[in-house]
Amino acid sequence: MKILIHDTAEAAEKDTARRLAQAVNKKPDSVLGLATGGTMTRVYEELVALYNKKRVSFSEATTFNLDEYIGLPAEHPCSYHTYMREALFKHIDIPEAATHLPDGMASDPDQAAADYEAAIHAAGGIDLQLLGIGHNGHIGFNEPSSSLQSRTRVKTLTEDTRRANQRYFASFDETPIYAITMGIATIMDARECLLLATGAGKADAVAAMIEGPMSANCPASALQMHQTATILLDSEAASRLANRAYYEYVHPKGDDSVQL
Ligand code: GLP
Repeated sequence: MKILIHDTAEAAEKDTARRLAQAVNKKPDSVLGLATGGTMTRVYEELVALYNKKRVSFSEATTFNLDEYIGLPAEHPCSYHTYMREALFKHIDIPEAATHLPDGMASDPDQAAADYEAAIHAAGGIDLQLLGIGHNGHIGFNEPSSSLQSRTRVKTLTEDTRRANQRYFASFDETPIYAITMGIATIMDARECLLLATGAGKADAVAAMIEGPMSANCPASALQMHQTATILLDSEAASRLANRAYYEYVHPKGDDSVQL
């Protein structure tokens, strides 16, 4: 794992966006794995800004999002389809047909999940996977106890995750219980992973991911086995790392920053 600790969330977010843009510049027909959540909002803002400054184009890229709620139509304001359209897709030059999210309204969600996994393979696999992390260590919607060998499938969300995501819905009862998510093995197949975590609320999950034992109890800890995983943190998210001084010695101030 490459662990880059920035002073501020803004610096970590901008670095994440630049790394993604740099990967697309190097390989314009990149297959990108994308993530949602509050953490990613400013990453996408920065990517849109880079696109507007003509520093990156997505015209040849393909995207696969990590997950989608079951039971929400694509047009629902709280669906991840809507999140991605509003945060990124409608602002950039990616063809709509090149963007993919699981179908939360499929009549057979298990089949929809298997089809999604097959579509990722058919596209040649994911070049760069963007990830956030849940307070309980989840990646995508792979909740604690998820098999580290899992593939895209239906998952039941924990109460903790539903409470964390309740802020987007009118009430807890309206917060979906099920989602289709890429599995941990699906994520591990990506040729490169970029995980961004910011804020003190993520510090325990980040410490478990980086320094805890590799365990299904902290699904993100599977990244310890990934050969090209970069973890971008702000100072608060890094605050529980026992070996923080070492990571900062290797990459002072998150320095390894990318120029476009
Ligand atoms: C959500 C998403 C994850 C995301 C995580 C953290 O439930 N399924 O992909 O990384 O939770 O979200 P946030 O950035 O809002 O803390």
